[in-house]
Amino acid sequence: MDSVDLFFKYGGALPRYTSYPTAAEFVSEVDNKKQAIWLSTLEEKSLSLYIHIPFCRSLCWFCGCHTKITKQKGKIETYLHALYREIATVASFLNQQQCVSHLAFGGGSPNILTKDQFSDLMSYLRRWFNFEKGSEISIELDPRLVDHSKVACYSREGVSRISVGLQDFDPRVQKAINRVQSFEETKGVIDNARKEGIDQVNVDLIYGLPLQTLSSMKCTLEKVFLLDPNRVSVFSYAHVPWMKPHMRMIKESEILDARERIAMFKFMEGELLDRGYMAVGLDHFVKEKDSMYQKNLEGSLQRNFQGYTTDENEVMLGFGASAISKYHQGYLQNISDISAYQDEAEANNLLAFRGIELTRDNKISREAIESIMTNLSLDLFALEEKYSLDNAYFEEERRTLSEMEKDGLLTFRENRVQVDAEKRLFLRSVANVFDQYTRKVPKKHSLSV
Ligand SMILES: C[S@@+](CC[C@H](N)C(=O)[O-])C[C@H]1O[C@@H](n2cnc3c(N)ncnc32)[C@H](O)[C@@H]1O
Ligand code: SF4
Repeated sequence: MDSVDLFFKYGGALPRYTSYPTAAEFVSEVDNKKQAIWLSTLEEKSLSLYIHIPFCRSLCWFCGCHTKITKQKGKIETYLHALYREIATVASFLNQQQCVSHLAFGGGSPNILTKDQFSDLMSYLRRWFNFEKGSEISIELDPRLVDHSKVACYSREGVSRISVGLQDFDPRVQKAINRVQSFEETKGVIDNARKEGIDQVNVDLIYGLPLQTLSSMKCTLEKVFLLDPNRVSVFSYAHVPWMKPHMRMIKESEILDARERIAMFKFMEGELLDRGYMAVGLDHFVKEKDSMYQKNLEGSLQRNFQGYTTDENEVMLGFGASAISKYHQGYLQNISDISAYQDEAEANNLLAFRGIELTRDNKISREAIESIMTNLSLDLFALEEKYSLDNAYFEEERRTLSEMEKDGLLTFRENRVQVDAEKRLFLRSVANVFDQYTRKVPKKHSLSV
């Protein structure tokens, strides 16, 4: 069986497992009443925060993020006001001022905020949370909207990592996805960041986009190597027009099919490995100077809503429309609609409107899935011991794993699953063996290569 047949045999369209259970399993019964309880019983040494800024200047047709296009300053000010209210409301439920070691700004394009808006937001967060010395503060940037003075502001406010959206440098591809971005403006942002002392630089690439070819990708990668990022994320294009109607602007006939995607990923992987990057998990590549390099070698990498991370905190509080929070007890998602979010925040209400409370089975599956997604391996025996499971518990999973072994995707010996590094494209399929939900009732996802 070739890779494409195997890929369809084992799922074809599966979640990325940035959480387990995935957001598709969240229910409306787990809402802000649970949030009040989970917040008021929180006793963490150290927390992570995520701030969602759901605005961009122009719409990229491939975009799967929660964002709205605006050119109106007032809309952003109204949103920030609501965000401040949410931060104060959440903090009022906490029984002590919590320490924070990680803060991530995502979007949308958080750099749509002016320098003053960004600095004010940082001051406001510092008022409610105790930031540890050396905390990692990261921000996602659309490089088309950042000048040197903004980067200098990020540096003054303690930003230590920028994550630059790049996607593809080929002009034909850029036109087909409505995202025209020059090499020079992208390089300018990265150079300025380094000048200002922000030396942790990620770039995001996407494969599977319309009109991409191996030779166009080779040119894109040559330019990426000139930027010398510490970390490169290589995302597979998730084409979900039933969820994001603007994706219909992309011609389906021009998108890569599964066979082309597999070839494209293998090509990109080869080029990145040749340039000294180490492959991490499903879709990340890191240089030795990146903090993820060592964590990956130690096997202590984590997975969260931003993808792979070195953040080991077990609790992440998400603020802003659609933001997801992670607690010991489960996950909660904020209201996604921006105006409904603002109304509720201004009324000083907590914002979670759906989520999931983890069962013991969820926790067992989650451990298995996280181990596969991060370390490409799983010690089934250790998991059974930890949760006192009898041999029958993973009976069905063992059968599927043995079949996958026959198909050459992994080795399964002495209760240890090891996915071959060459087969990392199949990580979602192997993780899916432990997914209690999609194994029984497949849900509609994008192609998982
Ligand atoms: C919030 S954006 C990054 C910051 C900024 N908005 C930008 O685009 O430059 C997050 C990243 O998600 C990825 N992304 C967005 N939509 C995607 C999709 N449909 N499939 C795969 N990756 C996607 C892109 O690589 C993008 O850089
Ligand atoms: S990819 Fe980034 S810049 Fe483009 S619409 Fe999505 S969030 Fe905005």
